[in-house]
Amino acid sequence: MKGNNISEKITIIPESGKKYFYGYPNKPVVVGVCYNGKQNFLPVAWNTGISYHPFLYGVSIGTDRYSHELLSKADSFTINFVDFKDIKIIRALGRSTGKEIDKIKEFDLSVSDAEKINSPVLDFAYCTFECVKKNEILLGDHTLFVGEIVLIKIDKDAIGGEYETLNTEKISPIIYLGIDNYIALDKKSRTSLKNLPFHYKDGKPR
Ligand SMILES: Cc1cc2nc3c(=O)[nH]c(=O)nc-3n(C[C@H](O)[C@H](O)[C@H](O)COP(=O)(O)O)c2cc1C
Repeated sequence: MKGNNISEKITIIPESGKKYFYGYPNKPVVVGVCYNGKQNFLPVAWNTGISYHPFLYGVSIGTDRYSHELLSKADSFTINFVDFKDIKIIRALGRSTGKEIDKIKEFDLSVSDAEKINSPVLDFAYCTFECVKKNEILLGDHTLFVGEIVLIKIDKDAIGGEYETLNTEKISPIIYLGIDNYIALDKKSRTSLKNLPFHYKDGKPR
């Protein structure tokens, strides 16, 4: 197995503070938070699952964001997964601040209260994780907020892909390339390597 051919590589010594998008794409999620009656949402491309046991999810949020102010005081947040057809809402939420406007009113968002925590949920999200804040770590100009997922709500049509993975016939997750550039999945390229052998002596996953 040789991999793809690359003709020539460019060397970049990164400058602190400059933005590089070569590690993208990422899938943006919308974080919902509420503190002292103030609800807000912001899209976050820097987000990831962290642990299965306990079930932890992390979001990295700039210290200058209004949501950062709320999240540092709140004890919970939601993670909302939105379909590609709603990319304009992602863009609107990510190019405005709750310091200046009430985004829910301004963008006429349909929002509900989470079931187990005190945080807002985007009704049109195909999946929402309700998270209890467990940790926050200041890392440079962002804070990594880590939450334990205590409840998952998912559109029943969104699952049903092979082995309970996302049903990509029904759902088109958002792929973000940086600087307001978005792309959808090429559904036809979906491939399952599930039945290939593992390359270990005992042939089991680790
Ligand atoms: C697609 C997209 C992804 C973004 N990802 C992040 C991110 O990972 N972390 C972050 O702090 N800001 C991110 N931003 C920027 C914030 O969403 C933006 O600064 C927003 O205006 C903050 O809103 P707030 O001040 O109401 O919290 C992203 C913006 C967009 C459009």
